[in-house]
Amino acid sequence: MPRGIPDSLIEEIRQHSDIATVIGAYFHLQRAGTTFKALCPFHKEKTPSFTVNPVRQFYHCFGCNAGGDVFKFVMEYEKVDFMTAVRMLAQKANIRIEIEERSATGGPNKETLYAINEKTARHYQQILLQAAEAAPARDYLKRRQLPESAIADFTIGFAPDAWDTILLRAAKQYSIADLEAAGLVVTARPDDGTPGTGPARERRYDRFRNRLMFAIHDEQGRVIGFSGRILDKDASPAKYINTPETPLFRKSRVLYALHRARQAILEAHQAILCEGQIDVIRCHLAGFTRAVAAQGTAFTEEHARILKRYADDVILVFDADTAGQNASLRTAAILFQAGLAVRIAALPEGEDPDSLILNKGGDAFQKLLDGARSVLDFQIDVLSARDNRASEAGLMRITAAVLDMIRRQPNAVYQAKLLQEASSRLQVPEEALQRELRRGTQAERRPEQAPAGPEPVPAVGPGAMAGRPAPPGESALAEHLIAEPALAGLVRQHLPLDMITTPLIRQLIQAILDAETAQRDVMAVLSERDTPDRALSTFAAGVLAAPSKIKSAFATHEESLKSLILGIRTQALQHQRKALDARLRASRSGTGPKLSAKEEKLLETEYLEIGMILAKMKSWATALPIL
Ligand code: CTP
Ligand code: MN
Repeated sequence: MPRGIPDSLIEEIRQHSDIATVIGAYFHLQRAGTTFKALCPFHKEKTPSFTVNPVRQFYHCFGCNAGGDVFKFVMEYEKVDFMTAVRMLAQKANIRIEIEERSATGGPNKETLYAINEKTARHYQQILLQAAEAAPARDYLKRRQLPESAIADFTIGFAPDAWDTILLRAAKQYSIADLEAAGLVVTARPDDGTPGTGPARERRYDRFRNRLMFAIHDEQGRVIGFSGRILDKDASPAKYINTPETPLFRKSRVLYALHRARQAILEAHQAILCEGQIDVIRCHLAGFTRAVAAQGTAFTEEHARILKRYADDVILVFDADTAGQNASLRTAAILFQAGLAVRIAALPEGEDPDSLILNKGGDAFQKLLDGARSVLDFQIDVLSARDNRASEAGLMRITAAVLDMIRRQPNAVYQAKLLQEASSRLQVPEEALQRELRRGTQAERRPEQAPAGPEPVPAVGPGAMAGRPAPPGESALAEHLIAEPALAGLVRQHLPLDMITTPLIRQLIQAILDAETAQRDVMAVLSERDTPDRALSTFAAGVLAAPSKIKSAFATHEESLKSLILGIRTQALQHQRKALDARLRASRSGTGPKLSAKEEKLLETEYLEIGMILAKMKSWATALPIL
């Protein structure tokens, strides 16, 4: 993102600049089903091929392939650069005035929401400390050895087993709409078949009932939401219920106890990342005050960016089971990408930081931290246990995954150290790893390094933006994923994205996968990542707008997607084999670097091995064991 305006502000401006409203102010848009149509302002035409999609917030012209997000439209229409477009839209959205106006018209005002959260936290806390009905909660805390100091320090409370604790108390001072906006009150509209939808038919009740309440604070220590834990295992299927997304509470950004941990993290340059809030509290009680946790959801890039402001180094303390291992590796990859150093402290099976500290003491936890292993060490162990490292194919898969991890780390010194480590642990020459790494990295960098172009002409045809046409399977893959995001797992599991040769498609697919993980819209994720020339948004708009071309010979999207994965992997392997062949020929004919007999033998073996793998790529069933 360009300097000057923070990403978060650009995102806010984007959110306040509805694309149909913005474009509709320039010329008339005609509704056509779920989208809008108009004559394209960027080329001459008689029938409208310009479309605006208000749901996904992009525009696209089927005639001239112009398209992108709201920023790109203003850039093209007003013939201005990205920053000017951002400023123009900010002015139009009048963001500051907008917020003030909202409070004046009774909509959720942030200050009100802060006050509601704060008062509610105090109220729940008072109930926990004093009310007769909270006796079981007090017993529970005693059993879990959470002292009164923790109740005060972490603002723990209790929501009684009633439907109207908050409704009765807070509604005297705040509107139901505000309580609902704060996530504390739920409105149900029962569908009993009788006509009418008036307020009398709505049923309102407290979201949190009969739960131990952990207040969640922002970095400044203001209460922004809650996580409520059941006392009785059988009382409810959900162990924890959290505040939903509100203007204050954004799960993808919340790090539990960061307000109490940030000083310690700053001083140690290090954070301890746990999975649960009781784990974090236990760590703090035992003196490990640099512990935080993500809020029961996947760790996000935003979390990593926040941590990066305080720490250089993060120690992950996740469960030892398979889910915990996967979460560790996923989280490590995201932390790497933010340029953080990461180590993984492996808990004994069945323990979490809370139980470990309680059962074995703070010293045992300190020992665990001291023994934290490098991410690669952990990754190679985990993958070796799941795969056959002794086979060449297994080694290649593990190596590819390890390189994928190393590639994310932007710090060159750290990256070099990781390469050394990978080389010695995998017993693969460092130079070979280096070459593979560079190959992938170069492919990734291409779009950023490409100059913005002499003039901002709209791209003509999907291949134009990358300089060469994309292999057909690659855009089809993106279209499948957009049509059916639930298939993301299949791609994540079976297709290393560096096999996708077109950088824009690779970035789009990455964004689709990330959007799926974070439960966000693809265009929103893309808009954040896009370069000022908005090439990615333009490209994505084209793919998103295209009427589905994905009807294929296969019965289901899944079948079709599998065949695309095989196709892309086949291409990558063929490419690899061709490169090997070229090196061998060059060595033998003297037209290239001379290889030793041993090296030639090695390349030959590799060539044959790839041939064998290629044969297996003919069907999903034969390929699956080696994918
Ligand atoms: N979590 C959640 N929703 C759930 C389960 C878990 O939000 N249904 C989040 C909570 O933040 C919780 C964390 O994920 O703290 C870890 O969950 P888990 O390991 O199941 O719980 P613990 O933290 O160990 O909690 P406890 O010790 O109370 O069982
Ligand atoms: Mn626990």
